[in-house]
Amino acid sequence: MDKIRIRGGRPLHGRIQISGAKNAGLPLMAACLLSDQTLTLSNLPALADIATMATLLEQHGVTTEVEGENGSRTMRLNAGNITSTTAPYDLVRKMRASVLVLGPILARFGEARVSLPGGCAIGNRPVDLHVKGLTALGAEIVLEEGYIHAKAPKGLKGGRYVFPQVSVGATENLMMAACLAEGETTLVNAAREPEVNDLAHCLNAMGGKVSGIGTDTLTIQGVAALHGAEHRVVADRIEAGTYAIAAVMTDGELELTGVCPTLLEALLKLLTEAGAKIDTFEDGLRIRRANGMMAGVDVMTEPYPGFPTDLQAQIMALMTVSKGAAMVTETIFENRFMHVPELCRMGANINVHHSSAMIRGVEKLKGAPVMATDLRASVSMVLAGLAAEGETIINRVYHLDRGYERLEAKLAACGADIERLRGEG
Ligand code: UD1
Repeated sequence: MDKIRIRGGRPLHGRIQISGAKNAGLPLMAACLLSDQTLTLSNLPALADIATMATLLEQHGVTTEVEGENGSRTMRLNAGNITSTTAPYDLVRKMRASVLVLGPILARFGEARVSLPGGCAIGNRPVDLHVKGLTALGAEIVLEEGYIHAKAPKGLKGGRYVFPQVSVGATENLMMAACLAEGETTLVNAAREPEVNDLAHCLNAMGGKVSGIGTDTLTIQGVAALHGAEHRVVADRIEAGTYAIAAVMTDGELELTGVCPTLLEALLKLLTEAGAKIDTFEDGLRIRRANGMMAGVDVMTEPYPGFPTDLQAQIMALMTVSKGAAMVTETIFENRFMHVPELCRMGANINVHHSSAMIRGVEKLKGAPVMATDLRASVSMVLAGLAAEGETIINRVYHLDRGYERLEAKLAACGADIERLRGEG
């Protein structure tokens, strides 16, 4: 298995082009299932999760064609000839986002079988809201032999669903399904993450009628069929946020391009409070320390527009080398502190109590061999390694390949001493 070696202590300087968002790309790809015409997605990142979604869709009978290199990839997806309405365990277990095919397949074909995703490294992540929401649109759903088996022989009917808890994936699944339901659907307490909005815009470009985009109440008028469209995937605010943190953590200066800074408002506000100097432009930003050290600040993860859980591990890495104490509270996922013991092995001072972590800043982290069990935890090890003294070896690099396009190349171009060690098996 590949590893990444970082020799830390070098400030990052330069410019990084931000890729398209994985978390927008995945639902957008699933949206192709709603139409028999071609959906063309540009700015799709070259990532393992995107490849897994393509394999899943191909298995349903979708044809995919990719054009262009890293950074400017376009994928054409055509679901004109669906051969299977079942999403098998083998693929779904690899990636939870596979459940996003459920709504579109059910809405278009009146039946879908999707394996239950099963356990996952960041806590028990159920899919009950997807199931309850689709039931509110008239689906009959049974769970059998590890599969969600959904039927709507006469088609879905518009309805009203109030999410008891904000869910990005369930909002996306229901919004897609509602596009082909008969009549009007209202989704209350819906997620309003930029990736959800991006999907809504694409659905409208396909002839859907989604309104209330960007608010917590979405109204969808069902239509008989959707058509083909071209759509550019929104920038990855989590990738941008990760590199913004890398800049101040290494006491360097980075310019991030191709991302609208308003997508990062919660993070940028926090980093400014912690001692960053940030200049924003229409589609990018420049960031460095204002002067001297960064200071500890308290953070709580929340649904958008709050601070994203997908940046929690990275901000915690920054806090380990900031002046004073900081409290990081995770409210979205249980068990999302797997990076804590690894950061501690690098010399961090962190105490976890239930869903909060108290971090007392230390002067320096020390490089170490580390391993992480999910994507964002892995990248927090990269950040820690970049700022640490000495050598850090990060194992299980496949987590990074799921979500960060050309991570080593982007960081190395800004002066990081980082390289991939190719392993067997
Ligand atoms: C998406 C993102 C993920 C991000 C998360 C929260 C993608 C592909 N992934 O994941 O990177 O960390 O949003 O911003 O976009 N829940 C239930 N029942 C459900 C669904 C969710 O209880 O049916 C719970 C989850 O366990 C979690 C919370 O709701 O505690 C939020 O999860 P959700 O927003 O659905 O996350 P995902 O869509 O899986």
